[in-house]
Amino acid sequence: VHSFLDDDVSPDVVAADPMATLEANPHRHRRLPPPPQLFGASRKNSTGRDLSVEADREALRKPKQKLSESGTSVAVDVAVTTALKAHKEWDARGGAERGAILRAMADALQANHDPLCALIAREAGRSLQDGIDEVREAIDFCRYYAAEAERLLAGPIALPSPAGETDHLELHGRGVFVCISPWNFPLAIFTGQLAAALAAGNAVIAKPAEQTPRIAEAAVNLFYEAGLPRDVLQLVQGDGKVGGELVGDPRIAGVAFTGSTEVARIINRTLAAKDGPIVPLIAETGGLNGMFIDTTALKEQVVDDVIASAFQSAGQRCSSLRVLFLPNDTADGILETLLGAMDTLVIGDPADPFTDIGPIIDAEAKANLDKHIAKMRTEAKVLKQLDVSKLGGNFFGPAVIELKSLDQIDKEVFGPILHVVRYDPSDIANVGAKLAAKGYGLTLGVHSRLESFADDVKKAVPAGNVYVNRTIVGAVVGVQPFGGSGLSGTGPKAGGPFYLPRFAEERAISVNI
Ligand code: NAD
Ligand code: ALA
Repeated sequence: VHSFLDDDVSPDVVAADPMATLEANPHRHRRLPPPPQLFGASRKNSTGRDLSVEADREALRKPKQKLSESGTSVAVDVAVTTALKAHKEWDARGGAERGAILRAMADALQANHDPLCALIAREAGRSLQDGIDEVREAIDFCRYYAAEAERLLAGPIALPSPAGETDHLELHGRGVFVCISPWNFPLAIFTGQLAAALAAGNAVIAKPAEQTPRIAEAAVNLFYEAGLPRDVLQLVQGDGKVGGELVGDPRIAGVAFTGSTEVARIINRTLAAKDGPIVPLIAETGGLNGMFIDTTALKEQVVDDVIASAFQSAGQRCSSLRVLFLPNDTADGILETLLGAMDTLVIGDPADPFTDIGPIIDAEAKANLDKHIAKMRTEAKVLKQLDVSKLGGNFFGPAVIELKSLDQIDKEVFGPILHVVRYDPSDIANVGAKLAAKGYGLTLGVHSRLESFADDVKKAVPAGNVYVNRTIVGAVVGVQPFGGSGLSGTGPKAGGPFYLPRFAEERAISVNI
């Protein structure tokens, strides 16, 4: 497991002497100081757990779970019981009061901006720029859902009524909502799910990714500091087994899941097999995201946007570009510039302000990428892979692979690997249909100066987020509501005007006087 928690530089990285490579970068002249204290003077949280950088991360990653006689985790049972009791009072407070707490949470995140960025770099290996963007996104989620709670849940919504009757609609929390999140946006997605579920009036059980427990713990502490009653938000640490237990508990009222398509399917099956109430699932999963270039596109802009879309965050974004479609006529020129531009990428310690790309989250994830590249070396053509052998650890050199055909890729490969397919833009309907047939529908890019071509791409490939003449990553809350359908999720868009109602239940009240 890579780590930037314990020392200034990860032992993995030190072993291979990253400085040998990084010193070649003329901009690289200083190392950040160790992260400041996140939690004020005391580094112990309310449970007495030591949150200092020396604390044992492995203990947090795989917490010892007390098991009940039936073999299930006691922490899960206690969390559900506590949240269940807290739900009604929280729901009764109304959207305006809950919104005020979310705004206080936004302020608390802002006040802890720098330590949070440092923690994100150290625990998740994300670059400082990614951390800055992520803290901003978490703040945006809190403010956006606060405003949405005030808009939709502050009181009854009046409806047209016949004479002598008043009709209105009320939105309420559903009960206990389980929020299960991934490691790749360990603060923003974690906080966003919680903020939405809480704003809608639910009590919440948060189950963060096992790779990033400390970021989750920091966020939950900030929610408490912001005035959230402790019982309303329960943090349960652990791996997929713990997540499975939470989902299988008969007392829960909803699940918000962000992560892989495979785990979304497992959760869906667990929910369907349970007795008791029918429990809704909000799933936001992966993508096999394409970008189509035509011959009118500006080469330099294409290259800039492709590099950011494919390699930013080490390609560990659900939105990242996986397949680039280049026109037969201009592919060679674009590829030459793209492969050359890759040499400017700075790969290394994520806590270094000049680093563009940090490591892969863990050894298992890196091994999957190694396996994919090895297969592609025999079946396709690896045009370039940056050499990171000096860095050791879980670093993976960004790579570009030219495929013989789109048939050679069916699933999301979660890392900095860009696949390229040559095509004829006049055949966009067919080529787009082939991509659509893979079943994903998350992000989609187009580079063209012809509006008609962008329209043809949009028609051929249904996707949740379509970006024309720009990158396909970095959706902004309230500006690009984010989420996909098909293998990419159940459709609700985080940071959009229709998200909160998915966490609520509607009651129509008709009164005759
Ligand atoms: P993952 O599916 O392995 O894990 C996600 C979460 O699910 C973790 O908290 C994990 O502990 C939990 N989990 C695992 N098995 C479970 C089970 N059986 N029951 C309940 N919970 C279980 O995903 P990951 O590796 O953490 O994240 C990367 C994936 O997330 C990628 O596929 C990426 O595309 C996707 N993602 C999607 C979005 C989006 O908004 N669409 C955003 C970020 C990441
Ligand atoms: N919302 C994130 C992005 O757009 C995943 O990149």
